[in-house]
Amino acid sequence: MSEAIPFHQTVRRSTLEAHQRANHSPFMDALFDGRLAVADYARLVEQYSFVYGALESVSDAMTDDPVAGPFVHDTLRRGSRIAEDLAFFGVTDPEPLPATTRYAARIREVADWPGGFVAHHYTRYLGDVAGGQAVAALLPRRYGVVGGGTAFYDFSALGPVPRFREHYRALLDAAPWDDTERGRVVDEVRRAYDLNIAVFHDLWDRAEPAAA
Ligand code: HEM
Repeated sequence: MSEAIPFHQTVRRSTLEAHQRANHSPFMDALFDGRLAVADYARLVEQYSFVYGALESVSDAMTDDPVAGPFVHDTLRRGSRIAEDLAFFGVTDPEPLPATTRYAARIREVADWPGGFVAHHYTRYLGDVAGGQAVAALLPRRYGVVGGGTAFYDFSALGPVPRFREHYRALLDAAPWDDTERGRVVDEVRRAYDLNIAVFHDLWDRAEPAAA
C-alpha cells in the first residue's frame, strides 16, 4: 500500500522545527514581549517590501503555470498593503538588510521552478494568514499602534480562513510531484524558513540598542 500521508502534512511536520526557530528567534521573542521600538517593527515591514516585491513578481510569471498558477490569488497580494503600512510608519525610502537581499534573490532564482516558487509562496502566505494574525493583534496592544500599520495582515477578502487553508492544502496535495520533487519542495520550505530567520537576525542586530 502506498503511504497515505497527505503532502501538506509532510510539509508541515517536516518544518515544525524550523517554524519554532523562526517563531522564537530573538527578534520575534522581543517583538512579542513588547521590547522593541515601533521603528524596529517598521523595519521588518521595510524588509517585506523587498521579499513580497520578489514573490509577487514571480507570482505574475507563474500565473499560467499549470501547477503553480492555482496558488496565485490576487487577494493574497501584499504589495500595496505593505506600501500603505510603510506610509503610515513614515518610511519613505525602504532599504534591504543584507539577509533580505539574499532572501529576495533566492525567490527570483526559483522563478523557473514551480515547486520552489510554491515552497516560498507557502512559507510566507500561509504563515501570514495563520500566525501573522497574532502580530496584528500585538501592534495595538503592546505598541500602541492604532489607526493604521496593520494593513499587511488583513486577509478578510479571502473569506473564512479555515476554508482558505483547506483549499491551499488541497492544492499542495494535488500537485503532481513525485517523492523526489516533494523532497526538494520540503527542502526549499526549510530554506525559506532559514532565509526568514536570517532576516530576523539582521533586524535584531539593528534593534539591540533599543531593546537593551
Ligand atoms: C512569532 C511568530 C509566529 C507565530 C505566533 C506563529 C504562529 C502560527 C500558528 C498559530 C500557525 C497555525 C498552526 C496551525 O493551525 O496548524 C502557524 C502556521 C504557519 N506559520 Fe507561523 N507563526 C509565527 C512565525 C512564522 C514565521 C516567521 C513563518 C515563516 C516565515 C511562519 C510560517 C508559518 C506557516 C507556513 C504556517 C502554516 C503551516 C501549515 O499549516 O502548513 N510562521 N503559525
